[in-house]
Amino acid sequence: MSVIAIVGAGHVGVVYAAGLAELGHQIQVVDIDERRIAGLREGRIWFYEPGLPELLERGLKRRRITFTTSYADGLRRARFVFVCVPTPSTADGSLDDSYLRAAFARIRAEAGRPAPIVVNKSTVPVGTGDIAEGIFDDGRFAVVSNPEFLAEGRAVEDFFHPARVVIGTHDRTAGELVAALYAPLRAPIVLTDPVTAEFSKLAANGFLAMKISFANTISKIAEGIGADGEGLAKALSLDPRIGAGHLRPGLGYGGSCLPKDLAAIASLARRFAGSADLFGAVDRVNREQRLRVVEMLTDRFGTVAGRRIAVLGLAFKANTDDVRESPALAIARQLADLHARVAVYDPVVNGQLHPDLAKDLIRSRSAVAAARNADALIVATDWPEFSALDLGSLRRAMKGDLLVDGRGAFDATSVRRAGFELFSFVAPARTRPAPVGVSAA
Ligand code: UGA
Repeated sequence: MSVIAIVGAGHVGVVYAAGLAELGHQIQVVDIDERRIAGLREGRIWFYEPGLPELLERGLKRRRITFTTSYADGLRRARFVFVCVPTPSTADGSLDDSYLRAAFARIRAEAGRPAPIVVNKSTVPVGTGDIAEGIFDDGRFAVVSNPEFLAEGRAVEDFFHPARVVIGTHDRTAGELVAALYAPLRAPIVLTDPVTAEFSKLAANGFLAMKISFANTISKIAEGIGADGEGLAKALSLDPRIGAGHLRPGLGYGGSCLPKDLAAIASLARRFAGSADLFGAVDRVNREQRLRVVEMLTDRFGTVAGRRIAVLGLAFKANTDDVRESPALAIARQLADLHARVAVYDPVVNGQLHPDLAKDLIRSRSAVAAARNADALIVATDWPEFSALDLGSLRRAMKGDLLVDGRGAFDATSVRRAGFELFSFVAPARTRPAPVGVSAA
């Protein structure tokens, strides 16, 4: 058992606090936000993450987690300090490391002796390992870069079953001590230098973004040539060199991570690879995906002004209440700007909308309520509950018959059988039988 301080009670910090407590450690979380800390002491988490409230409660009941706004209290007797503060994008796409520098400076000023090993989990501008070593320059601290690969909505699962753990440091002993914390998770460990560890996070997110834009482009081609999008995805994903993840075509990626890290990697590519063409194309394809919906509705109706359009889902993906860079919000915004009456429903997103947008939307209490009298319905987030909706009830509630399935929620045949005209991002399956040797499963 180790005493571990965690600086930053955000998405990553709280998941690590609850997860490391479950592994038997004593956790001390520090955050400067008093309200956040007061809520967390009572087990109230300020964001939606499945399984996390239960895990946190277990840690609190076993008295393995404390929350404080005092660095001195949080760092007391800590063997490790995990730094989990935000690193937002700046205007040129690079990452803003000011919160990180401030946290490092407070840790240096307030840590006792012996000093804790500083474990940086924040996504950082590549080279921040060196910056950290510059700040922690009095010989007391070892610094380790340990990027997090948690995906929102499945962060608890990702914590306990990581695909890999990357540890970057110039201090081998410290690296091995951090690696030992993860030993119970039985994940492959990559022990490397800080810059490699930091860049591995950006490169992974850049690749995931590229895969999604690839899938979206391929799906358009498939539609043009009459290939079946689902069969195609299956054929691709069975190749272990390609892999199944992040190949789902749809409205494209959003969230705080992929867009931000793509911008950061593009900024590095401009400086060190001669051009950022590859990442520029990934971003362009992604933006065009969401525009296609509005263009299609405009083509279809002549104008969307005065039309009621239902948007199901506001979160950037299922199982989160995060709306940052959400394709759903971008579409709702565009439609409202074109004077459509936009009725929205999301199972968990509540007060998170900017007031300027919220005032232009009709908030509905259910999917069917949003669909009532609508001319068209857009499935914008892949919430599982949308796939389970009764298509007949939706269709009867609506005035029009257009369904835009932006997330592959429904099977095309059932949608058409319910009387809808379907606009989908997955190229439709042909009706002729599958060729011999290809299983439909
Ligand atoms: C991503 C990475 O997956 C994590 O490994 C990483 O730790 C995290 O960023 C981060 O940098 O902190 P996240 O943004 O939570 O996680 O979500 P993803 O599951 O990667 O999805 C990102 C976006 O891609 C979503 O908008 C999703 O709807 C979209 N997506 C995903 C697709 O359009 N198609 C797919 O096949 C998969």
